[in-house]
Amino acid sequence: MNLNNRVLPAAAFCALLGVISLPAQAQTTGKPLMAEDVFKNVQALRGIPVNQFMETMGFFSAALGYNCTNCHGNDVLGNWEKYADETPVKRTARRMILVVNAINKTQFGGREAVTCYTCHRSSPSPKTIPSLVEQYTEPPADDPNEVEITARAPKIPTADDILNRYIDAIGGAQKVAALTSYTGTGRYDGFDSYHGKVPVDLYAKVTGEHSIVTHTQNGDSVTVTNGKTAWIMGPDKPMSVLELVPGGDLDGVKLDAALAFPGTLKKTLTDIKTGFPATLIDDRPVSVIQGMIGGSKVKLYFDKETGLLTRMYRLSHTVIGSVPVQIDYSDYHEVAGVKIPFQWKNTWTDGQSSYIFEAMTPNVAIDAAKFARPVPPAKPVVKPVQ
Ligand code: HEC
Ligand code: HEC
Repeated sequence: MNLNNRVLPAAAFCALLGVISLPAQAQTTGKPLMAEDVFKNVQALRGIPVNQFMETMGFFSAALGYNCTNCHGNDVLGNWEKYADETPVKRTARRMILVVNAINKTQFGGREAVTCYTCHRSSPSPKTIPSLVEQYTEPPADDPNEVEITARAPKIPTADDILNRYIDAIGGAQKVAALTSYTGTGRYDGFDSYHGKVPVDLYAKVTGEHSIVTHTQNGDSVTVTNGKTAWIMGPDKPMSVLELVPGGDLDGVKLDAALAFPGTLKKTLTDIKTGFPATLIDDRPVSVIQGMIGGSKVKLYFDKETGLLTRMYRLSHTVIGSVPVQIDYSDYHEVAGVKIPFQWKNTWTDGQSSYIFEAMTPNVAIDAAKFARPVPPAKPVVKPVQ
């Protein structure tokens, strides 16, 4: 049973429709904004950055098996401002936020022991009666994303061994160190391209600068960092350019930049460790390491046979729970003697997208402007939703 498949594309679809009308604050000020600075009717989730606020909406959708309109009503389709309207379901959801906070505070010492997902499990109606069917059928295969470090797991290979083996597998430390920049071109598909294939450009430097530009039908969508600050810009976003404040999204952008040059991983991740029980991805045994980037926990999965990275799984912490993000890597090709994945499949609570690169050019000079704050188009081009 996978209710997520049923609901998530709808959640993403709903977010996309926000392009048609942006809030007045769409003009950016250059300073990170809190949810209540941008949205009109924020009562429970105040004091959190806009991007984290949007992550909580993805979390709600995933936790209840809902899309945006189930809570916000159909009027939001095509009108971003309508999200501020009160609806009975929205009021229930807000009350539930208070209930969950109170349970955690009074019963679990403030620990995030209970979230919406604890009860809802991707359904609007939590169950009260144990299922006999579930009790007597084979449980689904273990989810590799859920493996945790245990004392009983073998101590060898160490996290260092796994990372060293990865560097060897992609070409060896010398070649890895000699690759200092690359650009890539390929095709992207996701909810913001209506799942059609649109061109994507990648720019990456070993200094931590990283940029991905997808040329969607409605305009460019950009995720970029100059190594310190990061911005997202896109026609489907509530604001034209959003500077990411410290938190899950910023950690994610920095992690992508580090993964582009695996030689930098050991210094980018902190608290790197291993000790996971045996687990599989697509029936292949994988070695798992865990680390932290900023405040986000990251797990990296390496194919035991090839040593190559096959999955990144990251938890973005929000005030209502942790939002999972997964990227699966495949189709490795040599770029200046270093194996780089040409296919990435991103999966998160708001949808799935894929990147298929056709060409990568190593060690090229890249204009610093590619890593600077993106400049929004003078007039957003908005095509009607098909
Ligand atoms: C389970 C119900 C639920 C779902 C599903 C949900 N939201 Fe919300 N949304 C809320 C609640 C509750 C608030 C008010 C939060 C508060 O008061 O702090 C809110 C507020 C908002 C606001 C702020 C509006 C304003 O101007 O005050 C936006 C924007 C928003 N949601 C977008 C979305 C999007 C986009 C989705 C789908 C990805 C979504 N929501 C899914 C419950 C939900
Ligand atoms: C302790 C268990 C529990 C937790 C935790 C919980 N809920 Fe609920 N929720 C319920 C129950 C029980 C109902 C009532 C379902 C019914 O009437 O069938 C409900 C109903 C709802 C509904 C109404 C659904 C509808 O369409 O009528 C919404 C919306 C909702 N919850 C949102 C949330 C959100 C958002 C969170 C996290 C902040 C959350 N809940 C956490 C138990 C929980």
